[in-house]
Amino acid sequence: MNQALTQSIQNCREHIDHYLLQKLQQLPMSDARLLDAMRHSLLLGGKRIRPLLVYLTGELKAVSADQMAPVAAAIESIHAYSLVHDDLPAMDDDQLRRGQPTCHIAFDEATAILAGDALQTLAFELLSQAHAFSAEKRLAMIQELSQAAGFQGMCGGQAVDIAATGKQQSLDELERMHQLKTGALIRAAVRLGAIASGIEIPEHRRYLDQYAQAIGLAFQVRDDILDVTSDTQTLGKPQGSDISHHKSTYPSLLGLAKAQQKCELLRHEALQALEGLPYNTDKLALLADYIVQRDK
Ligand code: IPE
Ligand code: IPE
Ligand code: MG
Ligand code: MG
Ligand code: MG
Repeated sequence: MNQALTQSIQNCREHIDHYLLQKLQQLPMSDARLLDAMRHSLLLGGKRIRPLLVYLTGELKAVSADQMAPVAAAIESIHAYSLVHDDLPAMDDDQLRRGQPTCHIAFDEATAILAGDALQTLAFELLSQAHAFSAEKRLAMIQELSQAAGFQGMCGGQAVDIAATGKQQSLDELERMHQLKTGALIRAAVRLGAIASGIEIPEHRRYLDQYAQAIGLAFQVRDDILDVTSDTQTLGKPQGSDISHHKSTYPSLLGLAKAQQKCELLRHEALQALEGLPYNTDKLALLADYIVQRDK
């Protein structure tokens, strides 16, 4: 991977990890076990792609990582909650996540459900307290994230995923589901970055949106591919989970080669969208490369 992106990813991971740790430490104590489960789900690894998108979009307008941290933390907190619930027996019933036992295995189901709930509300608390930004911007970010995470976004997509398990989906249905369950949050990461940093010109917002939509779908297509081609140790989650649960995926509908071609096509779309922007978008472009080529 390109040196500049490697360094940026490293800096972002350190920044977000430090910020999240600090935020959890500052929570007034209620239930120690619940807090442990939140820590387990939020702090133990993860590629931090969504925070990275928030930071890099902020960088387009020179907004600092310190200012962006609560926004990046909010989106990662929603993502962590989505993974805790995704792994539950009622959903994908997986036992390994980020190289650790999943939350309901390390703790218990009730604690995992509550940890997910608490991580979700923590996200909105963090956004409401992002005082580097005006109240108007904070409200706009809360609205954006709630729509992306909820019925019209991630939860809606997860519902489609569960309903479709064991059935063959059409390619259009699969794409729509991926856009919702994964694309919506990735798109929100970029949109939050744009709101926070004051990118207001509709045309610029549109290009950023096209970029985010393309990499969001590519991210899940690559996730589907890795479920077939990678191994459990590298992934830190069970390889073959989709196959064993009879899920429709890009490789199952198209085959591996065409699924990867789809990733390449989406990468191309993402890069084209960036060309319309009057900023230095090199790092966002490198991130698109990384998303379609990553091996975990
Ligand atoms: C996994 O997301 C779930 C999907 C939306 C495909 P990530 O691959 O970003 O998971 P972490 O955060 O790196 O563990
Ligand atoms: C998860 O999709 C999308 C979420 C909203 C969490 P997957 O079920 O494919 O994610 P993994 O493979 O378990 O990480
Ligand atoms: Mg799932
Ligand atoms: Mg899953
Ligand atoms: Mg998957």
